[in-house]
Amino acid sequence: MPFTVVVGCQWGDEGKGKIVDLMAEGVDWVARFQGGANAGHTVFVGDRQAVLHLVPTGILRPDVHCAIGNGVVLDPIALLEELRLLEGLGIRWRDRLRISPFAHIVTPLHKSLEALRQQDRSIGTTRRGIGPAYEDKASRRGLRVEDLLDERVLRERLQARWESFRKELKTGEHGAAQLAAPDWSRFDELAGLFDEARRVIGPLVCDVTDLLLSEDEAGKAILCEGAQGSLLDIDHGTYPFVTSSNTTVGGACTGLGIPPRRIEKVVGIVKAYTTRVGLGPFPTEFDSETADGFREKAGEYGATTGRPRRCGWLDAVLVRRSVRINGVDELVVTKLDVLSGLDRLCIATEYRHGAPREQQPPGAPQGEHASGPAAGSTEESTWAGSWPSTAVLEQAIPEYAEVPGWMADLSGARALSDLPSQARVYLETLSREIGAPVGLVSIGPGREQVLATRS
Ligand code: IMP
Repeated sequence: MPFTVVVGCQWGDEGKGKIVDLMAEGVDWVARFQGGANAGHTVFVGDRQAVLHLVPTGILRPDVHCAIGNGVVLDPIALLEELRLLEGLGIRWRDRLRISPFAHIVTPLHKSLEALRQQDRSIGTTRRGIGPAYEDKASRRGLRVEDLLDERVLRERLQARWESFRKELKTGEHGAAQLAAPDWSRFDELAGLFDEARRVIGPLVCDVTDLLLSEDEAGKAILCEGAQGSLLDIDHGTYPFVTSSNTTVGGACTGLGIPPRRIEKVVGIVKAYTTRVGLGPFPTEFDSETADGFREKAGEYGATTGRPRRCGWLDAVLVRRSVRINGVDELVVTKLDVLSGLDRLCIATEYRHGAPREQQPPGAPQGEHASGPAAGSTEESTWAGSWPSTAVLEQAIPEYAEVPGWMADLSGARALSDLPSQARVYLETLSREIGAPVGLVSIGPGREQVLATRS
C-alpha cells in the first residue's frame, strides 16, 4: 500500500500532531522525514499531556511502528529524555521505533553555536541547534547516527567539530553573546554525554529506507509525518525566515528515501486562521491588541519554546501556494472552534500590491514583465515572478473576503451538520479560495472532535 504524506500548509503549528495521531489508526508505520527537536506536538494520553519533539506521533497507538528517517537531525540527548517520558506514560517503544543510521546528529555544540551567532534573535529560531546541524550536513562535516554507534569514530569526528567551535568562540566577533555561550572547555565531558545515547539508540538503528520500501512492497500502510510548515521550507518558504529543511512533500522522498511515485495521497493541514513564531513577513497579522486577546483565547504559545505566537487571519494566497507546491489532495482544517464569538471573519484572497493572484495557466504571460528579456539577453533583469519575494511580502496589503461569524460553541458538534451555517460558509469560502477540498475539520483537542465533511 503506498505512502501518504501529511504536511503543514502555513508556518507550522497547524495541529499536524493531532491529525497524524488520528490518521495513524489502522496504519502500520508513521515516519518522520525532516526537522528535529524544533518541532513540538502536544499530545494527550488520557488526561495526561506530553510534548513530543522527535518521536513520531504514531507512538501513541500501540500497534503502530515508528521511524525516524535520514532527513531528520536527531538530538540524541533530547531523544533520551523523550523516551523516558514515554516510559513514564506507559508507552512501549523499544520494539516499535527505528532510526536511520544516516540521520545527522545535533550536539550541544550546535545549540551553543546557534546562541553564539544569535540566530534566535535575527531569525527567531528555536535554539535547538537545527540550522548549525544542517549546515554541517551540507558542508560534509556532520556527524551521523552511524558515527554515534562507534565510540572511537564519534570522538574523532566530534573532536574536529569541538576544535572548530572553540576557535569560533575565540574570534571575538560575536560580542556579548560570546560571554553567555557555554564554552565546552572539557572535551571528555562533551563526548561522555553520548555514552548512554549509544547504548539506548544502538539497538534501534537500521536501514530505514530499506525497511519502509520492503514494508510498502508487503502492502503495509505508511504515513509520513511532516514537521513545521510549507512556508518555513528552506527553498519554498519566506527565506531567510525559514527553517533549514524541506518541509514540503519532496522532503519525504529525500528524507526517507522513497520514490515520488509511491506517494498516493498528500494531506495538507491548515489552521482556520494563521500563526507564526519567529520573525518574517506576515501580511494578515492582527494588530498587537487584537493579537493579545486572540492568543489568550486560542492558547497560541509555542509547544517547544513557550513563545507567544503571532496571530492573524487566514491567508488563502499563501495556503494556495502551499497546496500547489505539495500537490495537496485534501485539506484538514484545524481549530475552527477558536473562531467562535467573532462577529465577522476575514480570509485574505489576494494582495493589493506585491503579489498578483497566482491563477494563470502554466506558461501564461504574467504582469507587465510578461515580455521580458529573452534568455541570454544582456538587458537588465526585470524579473517579477508571480510569487513575491520576502521583501515584497513584507509590504503586501491583503484584500479580504468577509464572512459573518458565529457565537455558538462548536466543541460539542459531532457532525458537520451540527455546525452553525456561518461556520459551514466559512469552510466553503476557505476551500474555494485555497482551491482544494476539505476532508476533515477539527473543533477541539479530542479524537472525537474531528468531523468528516463527507459521510
Ligand atoms: P529553527 O527551525 O529552530 O532553525 O527556526 C527557524 C524558524 O522556524 C523560526 O522562525 C522558528 O520559529 C520556526 N520554527 C521551527 N520549528 C517550528 C515549529 O515546529 N513550529 C513553528 N515554527 C517553527
